[in-house]
Amino acid sequence: MSPGGHSSLRDHRDWLVSLVPLAEPLTVVDLGCGKGEDLSALAARCADPATRFVGVDASPDAVDAARTALSSDARIEVICERLDDRLPFGDGAIDVVFTNNLLECFGEASALVCEIARVLRPDGTVVAAHWDWDTQLFDGPDRALVRRLTQAFADWRQDWMEHADPWAGRRLHGMFEGSGLFRGTVHARTLVESTFAPGCYGFERAHDLAELVGHGTIDARDYERFLSQQGNLQAEGGYFYAVTEFVYVGQRAS
Ligand SMILES: C[S@@+](CC[C@H](N)C(=O)[O-])C[C@H]1O[C@@H](n2cnc3c(N)ncnc32)[C@H](O)[C@@H]1O
Repeated sequence: MSPGGHSSLRDHRDWLVSLVPLAEPLTVVDLGCGKGEDLSALAARCADPATRFVGVDASPDAVDAARTALSSDARIEVICERLDDRLPFGDGAIDVVFTNNLLECFGEASALVCEIARVLRPDGTVVAAHWDWDTQLFDGPDRALVRRLTQAFADWRQDWMEHADPWAGRRLHGMFEGSGLFRGTVHARTLVESTFAPGCYGFERAHDLAELVGHGTIDARDYERFLSQQGNLQAEGGYFYAVTEFVYVGQRAS
């Protein structure tokens, strides 16, 4: 816990990347790397000059941002590519596959799980992480309102997603173990916040709901009431937000 009585997103990311084995010279890939925050945290944990980090993402804007942010570390490469078909790596070429909050976008993730197994060397490690959006909770005086808005958020397929599965977190174990290609365990951590302010994860997610007002999925008055109630809780010292991330860490069966 941080001094403010809540765990920060940085603490959460530190926990997540601590699950990735980086003890030897490796090739590590981050599928759906976004702007490269996890790649940066992974590279910061590894001094080995021979370890390579490769991020892949379909969004040219995210890839540009990642390349800019990570340009000072020659070990890191970022590729702009979709991951729906074949992964852009040879058989058994990768030591560690990391992926965070990508799998919800795949309607049928089993092909991707098979591709991860193909590119991993025998005994290579997959670290697949995902928020479970139905664990996202806010406190509030109007339980029905909070439930309505958090459920609308969970079911929201954002513009950049082909599919949306809010339960991707709880499904990681079944996806990987059920394939018969991996043996592993699931870890979990709840991000807890007690501050409603810009930069805090819950504050940003609460304000994301504005887009659902724009789409007509939620009512503008509900949205304003929700924000005002969260602001009041903050003023009274009673604001509370939490969301749980699940992480499957498994070995490629040889
Ligand atoms: C929620 S973001 C997660 C980014 C990063 N992993 C993180 O946790 O901060 C999901 C990322 O997956 C990428 N993405 C979604 N579908 C994809 C696909 N089919 N192929 C490659 N990237 C995809 C998006 O562009 C986006 O950057």
